[in-house]
Amino acid sequence: MRFFKSISLCLAIAISVSSCMINNTANSNNKTINHYGKQTVKLIKTDVPQRPNGQKDVLGLRLAPIPVVRVGFIGLGMRGHSAVNRFTFLKGVEIKALCDIRPEYVESSQQTLIKRGCPKADVYTGEDGWKKLCERKDLDLIYIVTDWANHAPMMIYAMEQGKNVACEVPAVTSLEEAWAVINTAERTQKHCMMLENCVYDFFELTTLNMAQQGLFGEVLSAKGAYIHNLEPYWNAYYNDWRMKFNKEHRGDIYATHGMGPACQLLNIHRGDRMTSLVAMDVPATSIPMYLEKERGEKNPQVKNGEMTHTLIKTAQGKTMYIEHNVASYRPYSRLYQAIGTNGYANKYPFEGYCLRPTEQAKKSVPNHENLNTHNFVSQEAKKALMDKYKHPIHKETEALAKKVGGHGGMDFVMDYRLIYCLQNGLPLDMDVYDLAEWSTLGALTELSLENNSAPVEIPDFTRGGWKKVKGLQFHYKK
Ligand SMILES: NC(=O)c1ccc[n+]([C@@H]2O[C@H](COP(=O)([O-])OP(=O)(O)OC[C@H]3O[C@@H](n4cnc5c(N)ncnc54)[C@H](O)[C@@H]3O)[C@@H](O)[C@H]2O)c1
Repeated sequence: MRFFKSISLCLAIAISVSSCMINNTANSNNKTINHYGKQTVKLIKTDVPQRPNGQKDVLGLRLAPIPVVRVGFIGLGMRGHSAVNRFTFLKGVEIKALCDIRPEYVESSQQTLIKRGCPKADVYTGEDGWKKLCERKDLDLIYIVTDWANHAPMMIYAMEQGKNVACEVPAVTSLEEAWAVINTAERTQKHCMMLENCVYDFFELTTLNMAQQGLFGEVLSAKGAYIHNLEPYWNAYYNDWRMKFNKEHRGDIYATHGMGPACQLLNIHRGDRMTSLVAMDVPATSIPMYLEKERGEKNPQVKNGEMTHTLIKTAQGKTMYIEHNVASYRPYSRLYQAIGTNGYANKYPFEGYCLRPTEQAKKSVPNHENLNTHNFVSQEAKKALMDKYKHPIHKETEALAKKVGGHGGMDFVMDYRLIYCLQNGLPLDMDVYDLAEWSTLGALTELSLENNSAPVEIPDFTRGGWKKVKGLQFHYKK
C-alpha cells in the first residue's frame, strides 16, 4: 500500500513538473521562449520617429508673459462644468468662450458665469463648434475637457491656431497620437499641458518637497494607482464613451493619476527616464456582471481587465508599480508610495511617513517591541513634518483652494499654477513630454498584455533631451 502511495506521489510530481514546464513557455512576437533554455526574453521595440527638420524640443519652454489669460473651454460635462466654476475664482483670467456639442451643457456653464458675477461668454455648439472656438483670434488658452477620442485632434488643431492648450487626462490614447501632439507642440512652440491634478494633492506635493529636500535619501521606487469603482458614474458619460473604451481596450487606460506623482518623485525626463514595462491583468469580471445586471446586456464582452498591474524600469535602475482598477468593489485609492534609502511615504489607506532614526536614537538600546520600521511616525510628528515641508505652492494657494474645492482643492491649485506660469512667462509645471509619458501607459501596457506580458520598450519622447534638465523644478516669478 505504502509502495503504491509513493509511486502515485512520484507520478503526481512528474506530472506537475512537466505541466509546469509547458506552462512556462510563453509566446511573444510569434517566438516561443523557453524559460528553462538559454534564450532571454526580448523587448518589444517601439519606434521613436526622427524629429522633423527645423523643429526643436519644448523642454523648459518660456513664452512671453500673458498678464490677462483669455480662455476658451471645450467640453462642459461633469468635469468641464466644474472647471469653469473654478476659473471664476482666478485673478487675471477672462472666460471668453464656452463650447459643448450639447447646447444645454453650454447654457449650464453660462449660468455659472452669471451666478459668479462674470461677463457672459460667447457660446459654441454642434459638431464643429470647437473648431470655430479654436479659430478665434482673442484666445490665449484652450482648455479641453471632452471624452478621450477628441483630445488629440482638439489639442493639435488648437496649437495650429496659435493657442496654448491644457487637456484633461489621459490626453492621448495611442503612441501615434502622442507623437503627433509632441510634433505639433515642438513645431508651433506652444505650451501643451495635461491637466493632471493629483500632483497638486496636499500629501503628494508635500511629500515631493520632502523628497526633493533629501528627507527620504535617494528615492529608489514609487507606486501609484487609480483604484476607483466607477459603477455610480458609468451611465453619466456622454454617449457612453468611457464604457465603450473599456470594452475595446486592455491595459492601464487611466494611468495618469498614479503615473504623475510617481514620475515626479523619480525625476522622469529630468535626469532619468522610463525604459521598459511589463503588465499583467485579471480578466474583466465585475464590469460584465454590472452590464448584465444594470443594462441587461447578454454576454457582454469587455477587454479591459478587472485590474491591471504594471512594473516599470528606469534608466537609473529604479522601479515603479502602477495599478488600474475601475471595476472591483473596494475603497478608492491612488496607492502613492515613495520608497527611499532613508525613508518612506504612504498615502492610502492612511497617510504616513517612516524615517530612518536619528544618530541619537540609534545609540540607544533597541527596543524590539517598538522598532521604527514597524510603525509610521506619530500623527503629531507627521503633522509637524507636513507643516515644515509645506510646498511654497500650497502656502500660496491652500486657503482659497480649500474654499473653491475640486477633489479637496488640488484641482484649483492645478488651475492656479497653469495661469500663474502663463501670466509670468514661466515654463509650466508639466510639459508635453509628461503628457506623453503618463498617458501612453495605456497603449504600452496593451502591447505587453497582448503578448503574454512580454516586456515593452518605453519610447524616449524627449528624443535624447531627458538629461538636459536635472530634477523637477517649479518656477516662480523673481
Ligand atoms: N482629473 C480628474 O480628476 C478627472 C475627473 C473626471 C474626469 N476627468 C477627465 O475629464 C474628461 C471629461 O470627463 P467627464 O467626466 O466630464 O465626461 P462627460 O462625458 O461628462 O463630459 C464630456 C463632455 O464633452 C462633450 N463633447 C463631446 N464631444 C464634443 C465635441 N466634439 N465638441 C464639444 N463638446 C464635446 C460632451 O457633450 C460632454 O459634455 C475626460 O478626459 C476624463 O477622463 C478627469
